[in-house]
Amino acid sequence: MTRFFKIRQTTLVFSTILTCVIILTKCVNNQPGEIKPTLQKTKFEMFAGSAACASCHKDIYEKHINTEHFLSTAPANEKNILGSFKKGENSFIYNDVSTVTMEKRDSGFYQVHYVNGKEVKKGRFDMVVGSGRKGQSYISTISNHFVQMPVTFFTAENQWSNSPGYPADKVVYNRPVTSRCLECHSTYAEKIPTGNRQIEEFNTAKIIYGIDCEKCHGAGAMHVQFQSENPTSKLAKFIVNPSKLSRQQNLDLCTLCHGGRLNKTRPSFSFQAGDTLLNYFSRDVVQMDASSIDVHGNQAGMLSASKCFQLSQLTCTSCHNTHENEKDKLVLFSQRCLNCHTQGHQKTCKLSASLGASIKQNCIDCHMPKQPSRSIAVYLQGASAPTSVLMRTHLIKPYPEETKKFIDTKSKK
Ligand code: HEC
Ligand code: HEC
Ligand code: HEC
Ligand code: HEC
Ligand code: HEC
Ligand code: HEC
Ligand code: HEC
Repeated sequence: MTRFFKIRQTTLVFSTILTCVIILTKCVNNQPGEIKPTLQKTKFEMFAGSAACASCHKDIYEKHINTEHFLSTAPANEKNILGSFKKGENSFIYNDVSTVTMEKRDSGFYQVHYVNGKEVKKGRFDMVVGSGRKGQSYISTISNHFVQMPVTFFTAENQWSNSPGYPADKVVYNRPVTSRCLECHSTYAEKIPTGNRQIEEFNTAKIIYGIDCEKCHGAGAMHVQFQSENPTSKLAKFIVNPSKLSRQQNLDLCTLCHGGRLNKTRPSFSFQAGDTLLNYFSRDVVQMDASSIDVHGNQAGMLSASKCFQLSQLTCTSCHNTHENEKDKLVLFSQRCLNCHTQGHQKTCKLSASLGASIKQNCIDCHMPKQPSRSIAVYLQGASAPTSVLMRTHLIKPYPEETKKFIDTKSKK
């Protein structure tokens, strides 16, 4: 394994040199299995799409399509836009004169800006971003350029709201959606070269929506082809299994998107499953310390400040089975804590005796309480302060206040 990755990194450096790519492609073709296909620069054509995985990995496929990862981006349609278009529920009022109304028209769904009742601008819902567990933002396509729309759906309050980070009293239609945004919310999006122009443009026909199989396993067209042509082969040579990576590479895969703000040093979509994050993002931000951590999107930073992480080989997948939607299954998650925290293995909870058998039901509310996110916060209608979504902290430790709350609510029941 280590040898393969050394080869891969060195090769990446030269991968822009066309001849080298051609030679490698030949190698791959001549000796299947000797070198993984991801040695080449990632291209749309190297992906098979998850529908192609379904024939051989049916169980995983069927569970995966219900995950928030899979649902994280999609072309907008009547079903997947979560907010209401009903009269009375379909507006966000900025101030006395300015309103944005969600409307269904013949050519699609729109966010229409009215000033004193007169239409001044509109943007079409072309893509939804967010499964809606917390909320959903919307992208409009203007030729090949993507912009985020002014109004976002906020799930906790079941309301339209001003998009996070947008000015409270101004309707903004021109905030560009970057390739990094799509790198975290989709599997692949192909950029169109725009020369010296700063603006990013995308080939809308070459987007793989959702965080799909091939985001975590690498582009899989060669795997599909090889396994189809060699149906008796039980050896998968052309696909990445994260459980066979080093601990760091395994963590890096999740940290690509769950590491908060990282400064990229290479173009988005260069990183693939099995790569080392530090080759794509600058070191100072990748290695976070406890003082710079936030609950939004930075589970990696939070976790790495926890003793569980520092004093064991814990990874994200010690607790998460990413093929399934396991939202709110706190008993299941608690069992995973108990894989380590049992008598004779790791330290057990100091409250074990007083809590009795019920402790097995829920370690989470006391040790990973929900906390307000600093970065996913929206302005609701007429509010002067933002409302934050609540996120599970991944800084695992005792929280005395939460313990008090937990015991108080238990004793009331
Ligand atoms: C024609 C059948 C077939 C198709 C289609 C297929 N696979 Fe596989 N896959 C296999 C076989 C056979 C194995 C090896 C045996 C096993 O692990 O089940 C395998 C193994 C794997 C593994 C484990 C590799 C390892 O090293 O342990 C992953 C991950 C995987 N496939 C992902 C995918 C993804 C993602 C797709 C769609 C892009 C896909 N497969 C499409 C047949 C297929
Ligand atoms: C391409 C970026 C990306 C990668 C890679 C990624 N995630 Fe995510 N993850 C997201 C985004 C974005 C969401 C929020 C999706 C939504 O609700 O729209 C999410 C949501 C989640 C959730 C909450 C939803 C749930 O299923 O409970 C968990 C847990 C999670 N990711 C774990 C992981 C783990 C573990 C890995 C590594 C094996 C990983 N993610 C890799 C981007 C990513
Ligand atoms: C968010 C990342 C992520 C996504 C998306 C994802 N997987 Fe996986 N997959 C993993 C991880 C991590 C493992 C290793 C699990 C472990 O540690 O045992 C894995 C393991 C596997 C394996 C090896 C056998 C097994 O069951 O563990 C197969 C096959 C597989 N995945 C297929 C798929 C297919 C097919 C899809 C899409 C329908 C998919 N995966 C989507 C992260 C992902
Ligand atoms: C560094 C990766 C990253 C980038 C960049 C990013 N996001 Fe996210 N986003 C996440 C993760 C991870 C989550 C899941 C919640 C969490 O962990 O904070 C999320 C959650 C969301 C949600 C809530 C989804 C839900 O219902 O759970 C929305 C909406 C969203 N992002 C929109 C966007 C938009 C729009 C952009 C770009 C303009 C963007 N994000 C950029 C990683 C990212
Ligand atoms: C892979 C093993 C592993 C898993 C899984 C695990 N932990 Fe830990 N945890 C540890 C180790 C090792 C320590 C450090 C013990 C020591 O100090 O000797 C620790 C420490 C702790 C501490 C004390 C932290 C402090 O700062 O004092 C708490 C609380 C804790 N774990 C709770 C949990 C909870 C809750 C879960 C599940 C959500 C969990 N752990 C899952 C290995 C694990
Ligand atoms: C009612 C809240 C509550 C629940 C439920 C709970 N804990 Fe704790 N836990 C605490 C508190 C508070 C402490 C710190 C006690 C102290 O330092 O006196 C603690 C301490 C710990 C420690 C550190 C022990 C040490 O010797 O330093 C571990 C490990 C731990 N808990 C794991 C767990 C696991 C695993 C579960 C679920 C099976 C769990 N806890 C359930 C509140 C809780
Ligand atoms: C010790 C166990 C444990 C580990 C390790 C762990 N998580 Fe979690 N994670 C949880 C629990 C428990 C929840 C809450 C699940 C729920 O409420 O549905 C959670 C929730 C999440 C969520 C949803 C956050 C929210 O508030 O909605 C994301 C995203 C996530 N984890 C990502 C990750 C990533 C990425 C890693 C690795 C850096 C990771 N987790 C490691 C236990 C763990």
